Amino acid sequence: MTRYSRQQIIFHWLSLLLITITYAAIEMKGLVPKSSPWHDYLKLIHFNAGCLVFITMLIRLILRKYNEAPAITPTPPQWQLRLSTLVHKLMYASFILLPILGIIVLTVAGKQWALFGVHIPEIMVPDKVTAKSIKEIHETIANIGYFLIALHAGAAIYHHHIVKDDTLKRMLP
Ligand code: HEM
Ligand code: HEM
Repeated sequence: MTRYSRQQIIFHWLSLLLITITYAAIEMKGLVPKSSPWHDYLKLIHFNAGCLVFITMLIRLILRKYNEAPAITPTPPQWQLRLSTLVHKLMYASFILLPILGIIVLTVAGKQWALFGVHIPEIMVPDKVTAKSIKEIHETIANIGYFLIALHAGAAIYHHHIVKDDTLKRMLP
């Protein structure tokens, strides 16, 4: 059995961890009163973990350029291979686009924030209407992201436990 490269495996599971933190932080923000300092901490965790997702996904894309995906044994039907390639491309696109859109939202809304401890000042006259529209696109893609992850993880579990092929083992250390 051929596996994904060591680096690809590390960055795959690291991106899962960072994406979980990014989603969890913004969902938990909704449960905390606005007066609590945690409201702002959770937003900051969302912004910073989201930027780390961006870096991780770019590294994964570069690694992918230099490494072929290892073949699955036994070979799944063509429609499954095509669907999984499409879902993988959509995940790369979504989790690279989401942080870019998030940063654009903060910039257009004229918000100050901190990236890895560095203060990012407001650089634009706030345009609340445009910021709201971009925020809605960010939120829609984030919801599509939930769906893609569920489909992707569900397929991996189906292949491992029902079909009993080596799809998942190729992505395990
Ligand atoms: C993996 C990357 C990211 C994911 C999956 C993601 C996902 C989400 C989700 C689920 C929401 C909440 C939507 C709702 O309330 O219905 C949200 C809101 C938001 N995100 Fe992200 N996001 C990511 C990266 C970023 C980054 C890097 C930034 C900015 C640096 C950012 C800025 C924002 C802002 C400003 C909001 C609105 C928060 C509010 O309403 O107070 N996001 N994001
Ligand atoms: C419990 C969660 C997850 C499981 C069990 C899982 C499992 C797997 C497995 C088994 C593969 C190899 C599939 C194949 O070669 O056909 C894979 C590849 C992949 N996974 Fe995940 N994954 C999970 C979460 C995620 C998340 C959150 C992302 C979001 C970025 C993601 C993105 C990808 C991508 C883009 C590939 C294709 C790798 C490539 O060829 O470059 N996965 N995953």
